[in-house]
Amino acid sequence: MKVAVTGKGGVGKTTVAASLARCWRDLGHDVVAVDADPDANLAGTLGYRGPAIAPLVKLKALIEERVGGGEGWGGFLRMNPRVDDIPQEFGVMVDGVRLLVMGTIERGRRGCACPENILLREVLNHLMLGSRQHVVADMEAGIEHLGRRTAEGVDLMLVVVEPGWASLETAARVAELAGDLGIRRVQAVANKVSSDADLEFIRANLGGMPVLGTLPLDRELEIEARSGCVSRERPFYREMLRIATALTEPRTSEAVRESRIAGGTAQCHLNRPWPKHKY
Ligand SMILES: Nc1ncnc2c1ncn2[C@@H]1O[C@H](COP(=O)(O)OP(=O)(O)O)[C@@H](O)[C@H]1O
Ligand SMILES: [Mg+2]
Repeated sequence: MKVAVTGKGGVGKTTVAASLARCWRDLGHDVVAVDADPDANLAGTLGYRGPAIAPLVKLKALIEERVGGGEGWGGFLRMNPRVDDIPQEFGVMVDGVRLLVMGTIERGRRGCACPENILLREVLNHLMLGSRQHVVADMEAGIEHLGRRTAEGVDLMLVVVEPGWASLETAARVAELAGDLGIRRVQAVANKVSSDADLEFIRANLGGMPVLGTLPLDRELEIEARSGCVSRERPFYREMLRIATALTEPRTSEAVRESRIAGGTAQCHLNRPWPKHKY
């Protein structure tokens, strides 16, 4: 199962991505967690407290060895470098999860055929299309740079929302982008929910996007996050475990049933309650 977690800044993407990785690990699966957000903090959220992890984009020697582009290469770039060993070699084990930090590509260079970009794209392609492990990628809200080919491998775009307009507007935009990229399954997870009214507000303004799960607002989570130690007893973890289980047992999962009933694709956004021109 390959899941890309996205949504507005601050909604809980990293918390959800870390928790999904941890739950899959607890269920006995082999998991790769990818930090694809330039504002990388998945490692810390997974409980890592060691020295800063060098992101792939900064590993100049590796990039030059695999892709080329350095001095003496005469501008020659290998477009399909070997990358299948990179998660194993350069991923850091955190709490039983293999974590790969991608790093930031300068804004102006996004989409360019620079060596760093080629390497990141190929690693993501490999993870999404060629690896047998479960993959959860912590993305930023802007997913425009996700290549079409990588997107083909994404089984689920999980959009984290909270009970507030801004995150719901972002969700609509992300769903549209995901649809353009050919990602067929786009579902939401409602986070920081503290009442039925919160959940009703979210459901009423998601334009029909299926809600895969509802995570409670829980102050203790932030306190736990400071120490990096996570209690398996909290309702947040239990709901994430239910989601993680549902995602890996699609035949019987409520999630899939719900998504079938609701259409289960980005197209459900055609009915969203706000005008298209806003986006
Ligand atoms: N359900 C929740 N209840 C309380 N705090 C939460 C919850 N989910 C996330 N948070 C807190 O909200 C903040 C932002 O979460 P984070 O996962 O970093 O968001 P994002 O990655 O979307 O920017 C963090 O301090 C996190 O501990
Ligand atoms: Mg984050």
